[in-house]
Amino acid sequence: NVLILDFGSQYTQLIARRVRELNIYSEIKPYNHLPEDLDQYKAVILSGSPVSVRNEDALHPDLSGIRGKKPLLAVCYGAQYLAHFGGGNVAPSNTREYGRANLSTIANGNVLFQGIDEGSQVWMSHSDTIKELPTGAIRLASTHDVENAAFMIKGEDTYGIQFHPEVYHSKDGKRLLENFLVRVAKIEQDWTPAHFVEETVEELREKIASEKVVLGLSGGVDSTVAAVLLNKAIGNQLHCIFVNNGLLRKNEFQNVLKQYEGMGLNVKGVDASARFLEALKGIEDPEKKRKAIGNAFIEVFDDEAHKIEDAKWLAQGTIYPDVIESVSATGGPSATIKSHHNVGGLPDFMKLKVVEPLRSLFKDEVRRVGASMGLHPELLGRHPFPGPGLGIRILGDITAEKVRMLQEVDHIFVQGLKDWGLYDKVWQAGAMLLPVQSVGVMGDERTYEKCVALRAVESTDGMTADWVNLPYEFLQKVSNEIINKVKGVNRVVYDISSKPPATIEWE
Ligand code: XMP
Repeated sequence: NVLILDFGSQYTQLIARRVRELNIYSEIKPYNHLPEDLDQYKAVILSGSPVSVRNEDALHPDLSGIRGKKPLLAVCYGAQYLAHFGGGNVAPSNTREYGRANLSTIANGNVLFQGIDEGSQVWMSHSDTIKELPTGAIRLASTHDVENAAFMIKGEDTYGIQFHPEVYHSKDGKRLLENFLVRVAKIEQDWTPAHFVEETVEELREKIASEKVVLGLSGGVDSTVAAVLLNKAIGNQLHCIFVNNGLLRKNEFQNVLKQYEGMGLNVKGVDASARFLEALKGIEDPEKKRKAIGNAFIEVFDDEAHKIEDAKWLAQGTIYPDVIESVSATGGPSATIKSHHNVGGLPDFMKLKVVEPLRSLFKDEVRRVGASMGLHPELLGRHPFPGPGLGIRILGDITAEKVRMLQEVDHIFVQGLKDWGLYDKVWQAGAMLLPVQSVGVMGDERTYEKCVALRAVESTDGMTADWVNLPYEFLQKVSNEIINKVKGVNRVVYDISSKPPATIEWE
């Protein structure tokens, strides 16, 4: 287990991911919330920071339980921290030190740089520079502009590096991390998906014993993998509820329910479409729609959860990015917690004990865990789909007829992406039904019908996104098929806006 102390760098999560890619488990903690039990950690990594060590309010945790006692790798701010508070000198740098640089000299034979050659590209991102090394340090590497690019403290397993090994552009960064973790800290690389499954199943059995667990399935990757893990651990003590809010994709409810049953999950499908449509009647404002859908879901789920006698646990598919305590720019820790709808006090199911088997995993790790349990690649590779579903893709008020229309359009588009081998190249795709009618001509008749917008984006996390350059032939074919087959639609447009400034969804 590796401890990553976060000083607020934008790259801290990347450090954790790189370490895990080496099959070594890592945890991020804010610099000012040092865990009490340090024995559990075999090595510590200090992250970068937007703050300067020269500031009066420099982040300054007490590392006396770590320094010299455990292998320590200090990155960027971390390295400057060791220098500034350890007898060295840190000053503002005269030259730009952002972006690519190359290691010009590397000290002979140091284990941290084993297998890394001079000339190796590294990524810099700092405005201060280490002018003088801390007491007891020897230089390990330099670049053209940065003399003290890496150092170690004699007699300790303490290393400081000015560049960022965690970013993709540091070509040998992963190698360096591996050298530190495996060769210096002697940590075994045994944290694999199969190992995670084995360990988690055992923990779940112990924790839950013979009690009952309720879980809401959404059809998405996280809740599905959580359910399969729990099913492995406690079998039919797990009661899954899959709610049809009437705003899912065409045939999604039936298909996914069948898939769930095929996996041996104890699942109840609840078709509450009518209830959601009723709750949405006449609502046009996007945020009010979200609230109405959220509230209806809570009511339906609460009703169903009550039918499971004596349930003690609520399982959730929460993943690591939702729970990492983040360090804000001012240095104060703040917890990131998923918002949820809260109507007139907590509904009963929210008073259950919570179990979140995926809360230590990143999204790609959830996929790998799912794959190691034999989940179908098609299921694991599904595009993200918003909780309020087609409800926020029908602009304006929602009716059963509009839902049906959009389901048909969406189906033609998404099936087309699959048929053309484009589905996996796109991060998310869907169609919007616009509150716009326009004139068209079909046969000899003038039409005055609806317009739909297609949207396909590339992204890695949904925070930023760009539209996908889909082949014209594909767009042509899909557009024809939509207008010919979906009654009430006479115009198709393709959305070429990036996020920012647009968002992925139109509402
Ligand atoms: P935006 O539209 O904000 O979307 O660029 C970013 C990602 O979030 C999804 N999204 C939602 N997911 N409830 C959800 O569960 C919502 O209300 C919601 N709004 C947007 C969107 O599909 C995209 O993946």
